[in-house]
Amino acid sequence: MKVYRSIKPLIEEIGRLKRKQKSIGLVPTMGFLHEGHLSLMRRARRDVACVVVSIYVNPIQFGPKEDLRKYPRDLRRDTDLCREVGADICFIPDTRTMYPDGFSTYVNVEDLGDTLCGASRPGHFKGVTTVVAKLFNIVRPDTAYFGQKDAQQAIIIKRMVADLNMPVKIKVVPIVRERDGIAMSSRNIYLSPDERKEAVSLRRSLDLARVLYANGERDPREIIKKMRRAILKEKDAKIDYLSIVDLKDLKDINRISKNALVAVAVKIGKTRLIDNVILSNSQTA
Ligand code: PAF
Repeated sequence: MKVYRSIKPLIEEIGRLKRKQKSIGLVPTMGFLHEGHLSLMRRARRDVACVVVSIYVNPIQFGPKEDLRKYPRDLRRDTDLCREVGADICFIPDTRTMYPDGFSTYVNVEDLGDTLCGASRPGHFKGVTTVVAKLFNIVRPDTAYFGQKDAQQAIIIKRMVADLNMPVKIKVVPIVRERDGIAMSSRNIYLSPDERKEAVSLRRSLDLARVLYANGERDPREIIKKMRRAILKEKDAKIDYLSIVDLKDLKDINRISKNALVAVAVKIGKTRLIDNVILSNSQTA
């Protein structure tokens, strides 16, 4: 596996691969890799000739009060894992490389980035789309891989790719869960054992939504009411949002008639966790 820390040699390597007509897959990450990331890499490994993994904690997607400084990092372990999974290239830039002095161009997907996570993390998705657009320009992947756990992020990136005619296919890979049902996240490490037990309530509430839907409930308000109750049983849980939205435009819906995204964000103590499930037409009791 080749490791690149600067952009120019990586672009040259990508040029060589393109001339040999090798297909390229990109897995963008912020490191502290877990099974969720590895499932994206394994999927890429199956699909393409050359798997590129980027590891970069992107400061412009963190708000001033967020956990940028203490965001978990373990580069040695990350590169070992990339190698084990069979990645070909690991790109590990620093911030001077990604945002040199004078940097002033941002990519912003309007509206879709203002709801759900965007409402409580203003500017977050602008930071995500900017760094992802830069990575797409550097790596020029045929396919890029994102996790369903960050459902809103995947929807926004698809919108950016369509709007800006970027020649890349976006693949969204299912959520990987811990044994207790919590969606894998680098932030799970912040949870104390007691908080971890409370964090299972996100998954429990989503299971409840699935059961209610399978039994014929189509009123989002009814589902949300019961989910809210399930989460608020936990003493340290504070709901940031709990929404049932249209899968395409992320707008609230009055009645579930086609595929809907049930998305939750909950703070357990100081840790903000997100999770989601798609209620699809084909789902029955
Ligand atoms: O999902 C993430 O880890 C990040 O938002 C991403 C896509 C790597 C951009 O920094």
